[in-house]
Amino acid sequence: MCALLTGGGYAERVAVPVGQLLPVPRGVSLTDAAALPEVACTVWSNLVMVGGLRAGQTVLVHGGGSGVGTFAVQFAKALGARVAVTAGSEEKLARCRDLGAEITVNYRTQDFTEVLRAEGGADLILDIMGGSYLEGNLRSLATNGRLVIIGLMGGGAAEIDLGRMLVKRLSVQATTLRSRPAQEKATIVSGVLEQVWPLVEEGTIRPVVDRALSIEDAAEAHRVMESSAHTGKILLTR
Ligand SMILES: NC(=O)c1ccc[n+]([C@@H]2O[C@H](COP(=O)([O-])OP(=O)(O)OC[C@H]3O[C@@H](n4cnc5c(N)ncnc54)[C@H](OP(=O)(O)O)[C@@H]3O)[C@@H](O)[C@H]2O)c1
Repeated sequence: MCALLTGGGYAERVAVPVGQLLPVPRGVSLTDAAALPEVACTVWSNLVMVGGLRAGQTVLVHGGGSGVGTFAVQFAKALGARVAVTAGSEEKLARCRDLGAEITVNYRTQDFTEVLRAEGGADLILDIMGGSYLEGNLRSLATNGRLVIIGLMGGGAAEIDLGRMLVKRLSVQATTLRSRPAQEKATIVSGVLEQVWPLVEEGTIRPVVDRALSIEDAAEAHRVMESSAHTGKILLTR
């Protein structure tokens, strides 16, 4: 089995409510399966349940090379959406193109708002930055666009232009998986089992694992994550 944890992942044994268990998908190793439940539940709940993403729509995934981002690109592509990403290096953007992204923006050298507006705007944005990207995100959305904020790497406070929201009929939601009650986590896990696991088992979505390090090297894993040298997930093994 693999599981969506409530917390406490740096352990050999964990206890989780039964509704948070998932079978290891066929064709995926037990180690690589550790890379899946959290990102699959985050991506499915926010793109489908909260964001209402449908085939033919354009979705912007900020941090396309992240653990969450690499999964979101593959899942949105599998849904039939047009996928745009931001990342801070050409290497990560190339990885995102391999995973299915059609529009790639290097946020260090390009303005994502200009690129998205030239492409007709995004119907949905999956955002990990929060405050620092709020204005640019609202400007990048098409009419009826939805902004779903799942991280606050750019701070938790910003001024909001409500006029822009009125005119374009925009919505903004912010969510965390961790704060959802067990019942909601179980609903998400069963949605993932039904709608996402088959895509993993047929190979349409692959776990993106940057490296696996021994639990003794957890500090090194954190250094890699802080330097942002990784694409996808960093795993800790025994
Ligand atoms: N709400 C939830 O339920 C939930 C669940 C899971 C994760 N999260 C959050 O989602 C975020 C990503 O998690 P993760 O595990 O996938 O992290 P991660 O793999 O460490 O990724 C962080 C990414 O942020 C990118 N980034 C940094 N500055 C950026 C900018 N200005 N514009 C665009 N991208 C930028 C980095 O890319 P570059 O190297 O290219 O800069 C890196 O790929 C975190 O904030 C995490 O807390 C939320």
